[in-house]
Amino acid sequence: MAKVLLVDDELTMVQMVSDLLLRDGHEVLPFTSGPPAYAALASQAPDLVITDLYLDKTRAHGLDILRKARELTPPAVVIVITGYGSIETALEAMKCGAFDYLEKPFKVDELRITVQRALSYNQAISETAYLRRQLKKKYQFAQIIGTSQGMQQVFKLIHRVADTDSTILILGESGTGKEMVARALHYNSGRQLAPFIPINCGALPENLLESELFGHCRGSFTGAISDKKGLFEAADGGTVFLDEVGSMSPLLQSRLLRVLQEREIRRVGDNTPIYVNVRVVAASNEPLEAKIKAGTFREDLYYRLNVIPLQLPSLRERRDDIPLLVSHFIKGKLNPRTNRPFQVSRQAMEALCAYHWPGNVRELENAVERGVTLCEGDVISLGDLPGSMLANLGLSPASAAADAAIYPLPSANVPEPGANPVPGSESALVPLKNFLREQEHAYLNRVLQHCGGDKEKAARLLEVSLATLYRKLAGEEKDI
Ligand SMILES: Nc1ncnc2c1ncn2[C@@H]1O[C@H](COP(=O)(O)OP(=O)(O)OP(=O)(O)O)[C@@H](O)[C@H]1O
Ligand SMILES: [Mg+2]
Repeated sequence: MAKVLLVDDELTMVQMVSDLLLRDGHEVLPFTSGPPAYAALASQAPDLVITDLYLDKTRAHGLDILRKARELTPPAVVIVITGYGSIETALEAMKCGAFDYLEKPFKVDELRITVQRALSYNQAISETAYLRRQLKKKYQFAQIIGTSQGMQQVFKLIHRVADTDSTILILGESGTGKEMVARALHYNSGRQLAPFIPINCGALPENLLESELFGHCRGSFTGAISDKKGLFEAADGGTVFLDEVGSMSPLLQSRLLRVLQEREIRRVGDNTPIYVNVRVVAASNEPLEAKIKAGTFREDLYYRLNVIPLQLPSLRERRDDIPLLVSHFIKGKLNPRTNRPFQVSRQAMEALCAYHWPGNVRELENAVERGVTLCEGDVISLGDLPGSMLANLGLSPASAAADAAIYPLPSANVPEPGANPVPGSESALVPLKNFLREQEHAYLNRVLQHCGGDKEKAARLLEVSLATLYRKLAGEEKDI
């Protein structure tokens, strides 16, 4: 059922159309003159507007209603009704954003079909807007966890460059979040509605990668049975994420350079240039300078890619983020046997913070996942951590005997008040001051991320001194 605002200065027309719409289950707001209909637009927020263009003997009112309806958020779809033979007026209305027009006299079925089409169009638009909001939420910067100095630098930079067309080179060891950052850049840019296409350049042999990226035309090689669009064409308007860009062959490097310089591609087996509007975000696990020295990576391509370098710190360089990350990965996980949230023992957290994490955040995420699976009670303790990690730290699972204290997990995200209620479970309850401290910590982090890591700005917005902000972030405030 839709809310339809209907306006026509012929009363019989208003009655006829109203009856039909009501019979089809819609809510109708009928008007026989322009000004009151115009006034009702903003307060009623209709889904659909059906308006005669000639209202009160003038055309101005109809067009005003059309324009105003298109300016609402979300905009209403508009069908205009025009007098017989006034096709020019109809075209003018279409230019002003009308969805369609009906020429008087029209048949009932004609009206019904046009209304149905307009409403399904409206639904598609609102679904797209919904999906877009969801995606943005999923890939918003807040999902990238970290408050350490290194991550604050990263946030500052990504805030600044997300909504630009600059080529970005993301550097960082395996598992440091390069793809996560690339997605956040895309979904926080004006390109968010167009595709984000990731491709791992190290995973395909040269000729396959070439045809994946640039497409091919039929018959250009054995097996090319039809024309095929490449990823650069498919991502038109969006972002191509070239992971492990350092492993591209010299031939592909020169073809990529051309895309960056000329903004055009050529399909394999075809010399016609095709203009593409894509942003390139590239990533590499290893510094590219060594490859340039060794002559396996083109220096000119490096400079084109490296317009804005974004170096992600390894996890061992930002150990103070480990408790927050652990908390993030545990968040919302309930022990299926006891239906209580998992906790982490102090010794286990100390071990997690001491380990050197060659696989970075991905390895930490896996270790936490494993802990959650293996843990017998509600507390992930030393014995639930990977054996290789404990051995590396010179610890043994047996040390778990004295492992009784719980580490107070920082809050990774502010939970909804009353979220995760565990009926009858008192262990999920915390003293008020701990709760307030966690909420405060999470809020400070959100504000800091909002300010791109700029603590002075955050302190100003929060109306506290910089020193207080530092103290609170370091968790030194004893009580609130
Ligand atoms: N800062 C972070 N906050 C939360 N999760 C993170 C963070 N960094 C990485 N992760 C998680 O770690 C995993 C690895 O991240 P991602 O795939 O982005 O890393 P990568 O640098 O692309 O790794 P690789 O070089 O191996 O491709 C993902 O599950 C991601 O969700
Ligand atoms: Mg990756």
